[in-house]
Amino acid sequence: MRVVFLSPGYPAEMPDFVRGLAEVGAQVIGVGEGPAAGLPEKTRKALTEYIQVPRLFDENSLVHSLSIALRGRKVDRVESLWEPLVIAAAKVREALGVPGMSADTVEGFRDKQLMKDRVARAGLRVPQAERVRTQAEVRAAAGRLGFPLILKPIAGAGSADTHRVDTAAQLDAVIRATAHVTEASCEEFVDGEEYTYDTICVNGVPVYENVCRYLPRPLIARTNEWISPAVVTVRDLDQPHIQAGIKLGRGVMKALGMGTGFTHMEWYRKPNGEVVFGEIGCRVGGARLIDQMNFTSDIDLYREWARAVCWGKVDITHPRMYNCAIIFKRAQGQGVIQRITGLHDFIRRNRDHILVEDLLRPGQRRRDWKQTLVSDGYLIIRHPTWEGALTIADDAAQTIGMFAE
Ligand SMILES: Nc1ncnc2c1ncn2[C@@H]1O[C@H](COP(=O)(O)OP(=O)(O)OP(=O)(O)O)[C@@H](O)[C@H]1O
Ligand SMILES: [Mg+2]
Repeated sequence: MRVVFLSPGYPAEMPDFVRGLAEVGAQVIGVGEGPAAGLPEKTRKALTEYIQVPRLFDENSLVHSLSIALRGRKVDRVESLWEPLVIAAAKVREALGVPGMSADTVEGFRDKQLMKDRVARAGLRVPQAERVRTQAEVRAAAGRLGFPLILKPIAGAGSADTHRVDTAAQLDAVIRATAHVTEASCEEFVDGEEYTYDTICVNGVPVYENVCRYLPRPLIARTNEWISPAVVTVRDLDQPHIQAGIKLGRGVMKALGMGTGFTHMEWYRKPNGEVVFGEIGCRVGGARLIDQMNFTSDIDLYREWARAVCWGKVDITHPRMYNCAIIFKRAQGQGVIQRITGLHDFIRRNRDHILVEDLLRPGQRRRDWKQTLVSDGYLIIRHPTWEGALTIADDAAQTIGMFAE
């Protein structure tokens, strides 16, 4: 089993996926732009070989470089779990005749309008939406959809340039503020709770499933700096409240022709119980979500993903034991972190439930909370009961303070 893996050193989760592949018996050929010497140690240990290419993100150039470097050798899989490279991986598969999802299928997990069109065609509920490229198109779409609405880039991430618009005056302001976005989606605003549906699939069939709740909704968390956003895995996937969302998720896998690998979907639950598709990627969720899922059941999804990709199965027998929450913190003030308050007391109160504390330390420069979801650091906690997990998450949000100047 020979696996070509794009970008084996970055983002931070990738070395563990490479490690997982090696552990299930694959030979892993890493592909990246940087020199092999710059790779993380974990990656270097697990790779059989490394191919340095001049332009990883230029699909034609990548296909060309790999065709030459791999000439004559059989490749069984070409994988990437990083959003900007999932199409490139599919193009390489097509060029080398390697099995896996086609570029057209992967496009359905990348293009926010295309994914909604395909999901809607399967009879599933999506927000009413129109693809818009010019100011005139935005205004026309807004006229048809009415307020409130959402305007967001077709190829967006991290809620960047995503706006809720309630009035015509706001629409003017948002159009001016997003003049640099070449292609956007204008959508009906869906009010309600926001969740994820995450899977590892084998030939489109989920062999691992997870649901998380966002607290608060990401757009609100991304617009208000004072908030400590939390994402919590839902231990009990059988509870009635989320059944319609799981059913929606399974339908989406079929509608988009999912193959084998990770998916990360977002969905909304309206106050009347109706569930609505949000968006989906054919890769693992970011911001340590995989670690949260691992902590939920004490499993190793890096390796199970690799097993699914290489051998078409997973080996997961542990039950879901915990609700696992990640809480992102943002400092008050700008510049360098000066002090952290409340942390010791928080740890003393919740010692048995804390898994990770990775906050920036005094002397370190603040991160840009608009650019990175992890903000100025995070804590991961878990608890067998939902209320228990929320109480601790709330404690972390309320009582830990970070101050910069
Ligand atoms: N139609 C909608 N109705 C209500 N809220 C929406 C809608 N579309 C987007 N949002 C809000 O904006 C957030 C960001 O939108 P979306 O998830 O589509 O973009 P993204 O930038 O890819 O997000 P991510 O942070 O997951 O990368 C959503 O999590 C949700 O809170
Ligand atoms: Mg999103």
